[in-house]
Amino acid sequence: MSSQLRYAEVYEQSIHQPELFWGQAAEEIQWTKRWDRVLDDSNKPFYRWFAGGELNTCFNALDYQVASGRGEQAAIIYDSPVTGTVRKISYREMLDQVAKFAGVLTAQGVRKGDTVIIYMPMIPEAVMAMLACARIGAVHSVVFGGFAPNELAIRINDAKPRLIVTASCGIEGKKTIPYKPLLDEAVKLADHKPEKCIIYQRPQVTAELTPGRDLAWDAVMADAKAVPCVPVAATDPLYILYTSGTTGRPKGVMRDNGGHAVALKWSMKHIYDIKPGEVYWAASDVGWVVGHSYIVYAPLLTGCTTVLYEGKPVGTPDPGAFWRVISEHGVSVLFTAPTAFRAIKKEDPQGTYLKKYDIRSLRYLFLAGERLDPDTYHWASDMLKIPVVDHWWQTETGWAIAANCMGVEPFPIKAGSPTKPAPGYNVKITDFRGEELPNGQEGYVVIRLPLPPGCMPTLWKDDERFLEYVNKIPDCYVTGDGGYYDEDGYIFIMGRIDDVINVAGHRLSTGAMEEIVSKHKDVAECAVLGVQDTLKGEVPLGFVVLKAGSDRDPAEIEQELVRMVRDEIGAVACFKQCVVVKALPKTRSGKILRSTMRKIANGEDFDVPSTIEDASVLGSITDAAQKIGYGKK
Ligand code: COA
Ligand code: AMP
Repeated sequence: MSSQLRYAEVYEQSIHQPELFWGQAAEEIQWTKRWDRVLDDSNKPFYRWFAGGELNTCFNALDYQVASGRGEQAAIIYDSPVTGTVRKISYREMLDQVAKFAGVLTAQGVRKGDTVIIYMPMIPEAVMAMLACARIGAVHSVVFGGFAPNELAIRINDAKPRLIVTASCGIEGKKTIPYKPLLDEAVKLADHKPEKCIIYQRPQVTAELTPGRDLAWDAVMADAKAVPCVPVAATDPLYILYTSGTTGRPKGVMRDNGGHAVALKWSMKHIYDIKPGEVYWAASDVGWVVGHSYIVYAPLLTGCTTVLYEGKPVGTPDPGAFWRVISEHGVSVLFTAPTAFRAIKKEDPQGTYLKKYDIRSLRYLFLAGERLDPDTYHWASDMLKIPVVDHWWQTETGWAIAANCMGVEPFPIKAGSPTKPAPGYNVKITDFRGEELPNGQEGYVVIRLPLPPGCMPTLWKDDERFLEYVNKIPDCYVTGDGGYYDEDGYIFIMGRIDDVINVAGHRLSTGAMEEIVSKHKDVAECAVLGVQDTLKGEVPLGFVVLKAGSDRDPAEIEQELVRMVRDEIGAVACFKQCVVVKALPKTRSGKILRSTMRKIANGEDFDVPSTIEDASVLGSITDAAQKIGYGKK
């Protein structure tokens, strides 16, 4: 365990002397120009970290590591059971490839400040493309490969990329998914048209290139010239990552360069307790924030080896997949979502596969992305006999808001709690007016401004929408989660208080699904709710009222609605069940009683709300839920 600093001391300093605290942390990063101010609070609530400073994130992740003697160390271990590949890429090779791809982008006219969309599966070229953008000061926006063309088109319209980088296919377990038709459809749907698309041809599928628009990765790399790093302002954008809000329009979370590098490097040592040279594995996807922060940037900024795993926890080929990767590559820290462990537990409850591998290199398992239910915590902890650390964060923050900081002062673990606020985050529980609530009482989880470095300074080209996070409660960022502190100051995060749900660790909007369902010509109104699921944590469930006079078979309509959501958002939405009902329960003022419906579907006890317009409707919701396997058994 690393040198132990007492949590209380570290935390207090981070909150009361943030400039001193983060100024010291920033010494770990290489700057081309030192900052003028650690924290610029001249334009509240738009706080900026390290204003006046200049650096290059790619330089810190690659060039500096090579210059520090890590040239021959593996930067990436690409482990792909779906293609039967294990490929180690050294820091030197990574630098060479990234500098060349940055040259390709430059040759195609991409300049500092331009945006580039990366729609790629979990292959090293995705990481290369991200770092190449960072190298020349271009802003990348990675779109998760599981999103359908419509979602990609929405992001193209918002980010307005000069160029899109993609691959010929993704491989999902046993399925091969050609990407080119998805790209073409998205470009057709979008109003903004990218000038060029660069396509990495994988051996499994050869994409037919569109003349005049598409370029093959290998061809352009063959005569590419490596280019050096372009210094950017600490406050310049590094990337945009879209995440689900409460409507069909995703939010473009913007990340800057300086605060991001400082916070992520700090987190590796103090939260994950990992040292340069060790192997770190975040089993996620580069399309999500966990992938951005902990597959790509944090491990490389720290000089670790990062594992890029193209596979699943089960089925590629069996529930021993994670143990194989850990033992084969000597992984020290694993980070994944609880759902992955639920999947392993379901298939191998006794841990038979675990016994086949030597995983003594593993010191910690970190889990995030959704609530870690106590059963999964206990199972993982009993199996692995190492600290199983729940930590809570969001796309918006980019790193943990609450965690048991293993490199600061490990606390006894309480199942169901991500422990205490991470240094930098002044987390409070309040009522809707912002009045602080006593320990034990559940309320809104908010963070007093300023948010620490690494958190989004604003939404991409949408300051107005950013203000929605900070305008509800004075001087606070509202996380959208509900929770409470217990008597020992441990925080418990109980779930979202808005229309965002977490399905297998993937953040989705029920509001977005409702918008799609409502478009069906036979649908009068609908409600999509997140209901409990033993494997995925939550899954969406739709209740639909048909227009008067619709004489079609409801079962057919239900299937069409499932298809529509899959086509518009993607398979990842997991919208597999939808049921026609006579009416939705509403208040007298016409508001749909979603939380009562959710309780009915989850089989929980509920009180009939006093504001309900017609209580008899609840009976038909109960019947409908039971018809599709939900509700009280
Ligand atoms: N490209 C295309 N399709 C994708 C995809 C991708 N990158 N990722 C998922 N999908 C598809 C799946 O194939 C599945 O399709 P189907 O409905 O035709 O079966 C659908 O989207 C739902 O995927 P998922 O929710 O991942 O379910 P699953 O049954 O395939 O796997 C788990 C379940 C638990 C094994 C899986 O969700 C998992 O490994 N989760 C790990 C958690 C994680 O990575 N979280 C990210 C944040 S930390
Ligand atoms: P995302 O932006 O996809 O990372 O999703 C963020 C949301 O996931 C949070 O607002 C929480 O609702 C949920 N979440 C993430 N980590 C945890 C955790 N450790 N415990 C409870 N909820 C979590």
